[in-house]
Amino acid sequence: MVIHSLEWSQGKLRILDQTLLPKEIKWLDCSDYRQVVEAIQMLRVRGAPAIGVAGAYATVLAAQEQMKRGGADYKASLQKAAEEIASARPTAVNLRWAVDRVMRAVAKGRTLPETMDLLLQESQRIQREDEAANKALGEAGAKLLPKDAVVMTHCNTGSLATAGYGTALGIIRSAWASGKLKQVFATETRPLLQGARLTTWELMQESIPVTLMADSAAAFTLSQGKVTCVILGADRIAANGDTANKVGTHMLAVLAKEYGVPFYVAAPTSTVDLLTASGKDIPIEERKPEEVRGFGGTQTAPDGVPVYNPAFDVTPAKFITAIITEQGIAKPPYTESLKLLMREAAAVAAKAAGRG
Ligand code: MRU
Repeated sequence: MVIHSLEWSQGKLRILDQTLLPKEIKWLDCSDYRQVVEAIQMLRVRGAPAIGVAGAYATVLAAQEQMKRGGADYKASLQKAAEEIASARPTAVNLRWAVDRVMRAVAKGRTLPETMDLLLQESQRIQREDEAANKALGEAGAKLLPKDAVVMTHCNTGSLATAGYGTALGIIRSAWASGKLKQVFATETRPLLQGARLTTWELMQESIPVTLMADSAAAFTLSQGKVTCVILGADRIAANGDTANKVGTHMLAVLAKEYGVPFYVAAPTSTVDLLTASGKDIPIEERKPEEVRGFGGTQTAPDGVPVYNPAFDVTPAKFITAIITEQGIAKPPYTESLKLLMREAAAVAAKAAGRG
């Protein structure tokens, strides 16, 4: 079964509701951009690249609304909707990156129907490019692994979190296809259990051997020498290589260094943000206390206990062995290697735009 987290169909954005997985497969038909904003905020669609694609398509829905309203002053209305969409979640730079990219089409459109077509074409291009980027970085990353590799990963970075194939899970998929992978350790990923609910489900669909572990078992597992490398995704990579990703990532990076296990970040170049100098400048989303006080409607902590619930953390670049992208592999010092890599990515994009 090929898993996709979203699809554009007959003027609607269909989103696979990830909050219900793996118990229930339910698609939401979004015809209003506000439904997409809600779906992003509630993590029905989640993962940095996937929310970027969803955000792009949400602008098409906003343009359709303008068509129904007659289109007076549509550019200002679209800009307002775009801002609402881009700020639905603050940490993953892919969301703003994708919305800004499609909105550059608005500047080119001379009429509302033309603008709507341009928005749709650009959204579809972003979706196609993301899946292709994941396949490319998946292959590049798999080459780094030795035979019989045991990979530890955190959160969900698979088809569900992207336009398809996945980033860290893309490497895992490629390694499995080339006969190099022995096993995956997937952390649960409290509080919302993206590892337990989504990563295990995705890998089991393809019979890739996966073992689930509590987040708190990471130190012991790494200390036992059972793990070849740790591979994770990213929500934003700053110019100096500091990387925001699902909370718990920093902890794994420190442990991996202590136990001499390579720690790889896998992400498309759309996750690299050279305008953010370092991790200190990355906005970290804080979510509702209820997510930590219990799970799935069952409260486990006392009523009203104060909770700190950052959805992400920032791993300092010094803990990262390499950053694997579709454009190549960046190694420390990241300030230089990422700048070079992004320059090459921009040249490739400019060439592709010239062709298309
Ligand atoms: O809160 P989430 O589930 O959207 O967090 C997702 C992550 O942290 C992923 O690791 C990251 O977005 C990369 S997905 C390819």
